[in-house]
Amino acid sequence: MNILIVGTGYVGTTTGLIFCEHGHKITGLDLDERKIQALKGGSLHFYEPGLQDLLKKHTQARNIVFTNNTEKAIKENDVIFICVGTPQGADGSADLTFVKNVAKSIGQHINRYKVIVTKSTVPVGTAEIVTSVIKENQKAPIPFDVVSNPEFLREGSALDDALHPDRIVIGTTSETARTIMRELYKDFHCPFVETQPKASEMIKYAANSFLALKISYINELARVCDKLSINVNDISKGIGLDQRIGPQFLKAGMGYGGSCFPKDVNALIHTAKQQGTPLSILEAVVKVNTEQPVYFIEKIKQALGGSLQNKTIAVLGLSFKANTDDTRESPSFILLDRLLEEQAIVKTHDPMVKSGASHQCMTIEETVTGADALVISTDWDDYKHLNWGRIKPLMKQPNIFDGRNMVDKERVKELGFYYIGVSNH
Ligand code: UDX
Repeated sequence: MNILIVGTGYVGTTTGLIFCEHGHKITGLDLDERKIQALKGGSLHFYEPGLQDLLKKHTQARNIVFTNNTEKAIKENDVIFICVGTPQGADGSADLTFVKNVAKSIGQHINRYKVIVTKSTVPVGTAEIVTSVIKENQKAPIPFDVVSNPEFLREGSALDDALHPDRIVIGTTSETARTIMRELYKDFHCPFVETQPKASEMIKYAANSFLALKISYINELARVCDKLSINVNDISKGIGLDQRIGPQFLKAGMGYGGSCFPKDVNALIHTAKQQGTPLSILEAVVKVNTEQPVYFIEKIKQALGGSLQNKTIAVLGLSFKANTDDTRESPSFILLDRLLEEQAIVKTHDPMVKSGASHQCMTIEETVTGADALVISTDWDDYKHLNWGRIKPLMKQPNIFDGRNMVDKERVKELGFYYIGVSNH
């Protein structure tokens, strides 16, 4: 099948490449000339483990080509995946400008029957909007169908998630489009959920919001556990082994970040409000998440004698989680802003993010040298297995604040460090 992927970000590029792995021919379309030039040359414009090699393999084999010629790309392909961004609008809703622009172009250039698939996370009712925008822009009434097929991949493990999904959701009212989608995914061995477009769109928001809810639940519980000197990791383990609950997304930390959870939870809250049925449970999820970094910073402040002024703090990790260079909505930046507000002297490190800021150091050793405390804010493996014996003499005061509960606390305490995690007693 000739497939067009519109939007060459995380979702678009990964989707295109895994379809190549399944024997399809892909065209990647993006209006950003720089991205297209880089991709044509086989180089990825973001960091995602494993994806660079796959891009090289399939660009060399011409299984995937990249273009910014919208008209030609639309005319030559039969299935069009919309994978453009849906950023958060001022009122918390998802901004559909990019999705509508793609729909408009499809309407203008459609030359034969096509299946239009929304893979971007889009609010309930978007399939209908895409349908009307295409119709409004058609010169002649050429038939087409719109399908909602949300993507559930995570940054940092995008390839594995996309190659081995837990489920594939297909939302359409058209039997023809459903048959084409089944054919497209025929080599994927996972359950299929076939439903209406609106339900499919809701599934994506409901999934992300539920995972965010699990995180906020354990984070708020961690604060209670902290008061009671209980190790919250034991609670996660103890409840996670219950198959009805499951162990994932129960790691207490500095709160969730990234390009999806914060935006998608807000968008669902907005949708619910519009319907006059507020999702108060999700409003609480957001509140807990906003408070979580602040709660942790307060602990640092108290431990350092009530003031951070002129204290040198080494912040390890800038990305919103490990194995990505994405810093969108990263709790690390909330931490940084707050430290600077409190007039601390900040030094930062990240294995992948190159912020260009003057406080960023090249090595971990350089970052911690002279520090009154180090704070682990991203769960990079690099910070898990540090040579603590070498780190300690470099620091002014041996304080570790572990925002990800990932350090072997017994070991560092033995070495003479003062250690505080997130209710990691
Ligand atoms: C998420 C969804 O998991 C994915 O299905 C969807 O397609 C896009 O949004 P992503 O944002 O890439 O993926 O990252 P994810 O691994 O879900 O983590 C989100 C945030 O939650 C990160 O800041 C992470 O550090 C945090 N998190 C995750 C926790 O604090 N605790 C956990 O137990 C799990």
